[in-house]
Amino acid sequence: MYYFIEPMTEKDIPAVQRIEAQSFPIPWSANTYRRELRDTQRCRYIVARASPTPPPQGKSPPPARRAGFLSQLFGAFVAQPDHPDMATSAPIVGYGGLWLSADEAHVTTIAVDPAHRRRGVGELLLNGLIDQAYELGAAIITLEVRVSNDSAQRLYLKYGFTVVGSRRRYYTDNGEDALLMSIEALNDPAYRERLNALRRQLYARLQRQA
Ligand SMILES: CC(C)(COP(=O)(O)OP(=O)(O)OC[C@H]1O[C@@H](n2cnc3c(N)ncnc32)[C@H](O)[C@@H]1OP(=O)(O)O)[C@@H](O)C(=O)NCCC(=O)NCCS
Repeated sequence: MYYFIEPMTEKDIPAVQRIEAQSFPIPWSANTYRRELRDTQRCRYIVARASPTPPPQGKSPPPARRAGFLSQLFGAFVAQPDHPDMATSAPIVGYGGLWLSADEAHVTTIAVDPAHRRRGVGELLLNGLIDQAYELGAAIITLEVRVSNDSAQRLYLKYGFTVVGSRRRYYTDNGEDALLMSIEALNDPAYRERLNALRRQLYARLQRQA
């Protein structure tokens, strides 16, 4: 199976909401997604799709894509939006998003269809979001995660996030605390090197699976 990422569009919202309902106790409304998608200055949302064949590759990817690390290392796993088959029918198996405030990119959401977890899709999405953070000129990335959410915390730790604080009773469904995690040295050459090493490993894993 090939997994690849694309920008989220309004057409994708119902599929995203289906995964969200299986992933989070307090889902966003379709209107919230629409509002985020229309705020193109500050917000970036992506989806991961699964396909038995490689994703369509366009001839001239837009500069923003070409500039991203992800396109360089993950050519086969990033569909190019100028391709006529871009409106792909490959099902959505994950999604993620972030918004930018000053030089901080904040991950607002990330989730993978339970049937496709533990195959690198969460990592692929997180890489896509880190790329978007670079493209937006962010210096740091932050996020909140439930204290009980061990799998997500492991994913973030793997990518160099550290715990920088907590928010008491942050989640209104059960009063659970949130950990605040961040990557503060996004532009540090040592971090980029670490990221590239992780990306090479992920690329090899995705190739094997494909
Ligand atoms: C967190 C989530 C996005 C991970 O997606 P995924 O596709 O299963 O993750 P990957 O296969 O890419 O795993 C990447 C890394 O995450 C960590 N990880 C993911 N799932 C894990 C699990 N069940 N147990 C332990 N570590 C796990 C590991 O470090 C893993 O690296 P490894 O394969 O080298 O061990 C997914 O579990 C999910 O959608 N959870 C529900 C929504 C959610 O909690 N989102 C986060 C909100 S803050």
